[in-house]
Amino acid sequence: MGAKNKTGRIKDLLSFQNVLQYTELQSDAPPAGRWGRDIFPKEQPLTLELACGKGEYTLNLAQRNPDRNYVGVDLKGPRIWLGAKKALEKNLSNVRFLRAYIDHLDHFFAPGEVDEIWITFPDPFIKKMSRRSNRLTSPKFLNIYKKILKPGGIIHLKTDSAILFQFTIDTVEQTGGSILRRVDDIYSDCPEDDLLTIQTFYEKSHLKAEKRIRYLSFQISF
Ligand SMILES: C[S@@+](CC[C@H](N)C(=O)[O-])C[C@H]1O[C@@H](n2cnc3c(N)ncnc32)[C@H](O)[C@@H]1O
Repeated sequence: MGAKNKTGRIKDLLSFQNVLQYTELQSDAPPAGRWGRDIFPKEQPLTLELACGKGEYTLNLAQRNPDRNYVGVDLKGPRIWLGAKKALEKNLSNVRFLRAYIDHLDHFFAPGEVDEIWITFPDPFIKKMSRRSNRLTSPKFLNIYKKILKPGGIIHLKTDSAILFQFTIDTVEQTGGSILRRVDDIYSDCPEDDLLTIQTFYEKSHLKAEKRIRYLSFQISF
């Protein structure tokens, strides 16, 4: 479990009990509808962290809330490796990592199986207009979340990008959803908020570059 390079980490992941990998949709059945029953030891409310990278929110929230289950989702194995290794070392039985395309989430979770979603520092895709549909808060992705979220389930977004932030607000409003909370500058508006000030790897580098960190919570229309 001590692999340092990318190839070693990807190989390691195969033996990690808390990682499920589906980088291609192949024949083995994805665990939709079985997370509470077969994958986690206890059936309890499920939170996803999308674009989780090393899974800082997943790990931190799972430690605070042992009565909930957490799944970090990302494509990149070497990043997931770090979070999964820490979860194993800390014996966090309520944490799993799913290495898969977020585009395919509805293959991995059944309708209404997910209670809450965090999206932490997703790529803002600001250079080319044509890539806006790749943003994890575009209408295409909100429709995917609608298929797996419980009605009324909350989505949280943290981002350093003013463009992605406004795009998300506009998209939620145009698609009939509602904004629950908007924070334009976490570290000046609510520096004591112990949920919003959990820091991810990318967040730390944005803070070093003196960027503002924004937070939004919202519900989509059902
Ligand atoms: C900028 S990083 C943020 C990582 C982490 N949340 C953080 O704040 O340190 C964005 C992550 O999103 C993942 N990602 C982007 N698009 C994805 C997709 N369609 N499916 C799965 N992962 C994706 C990338 O692999 C990358 O790790």
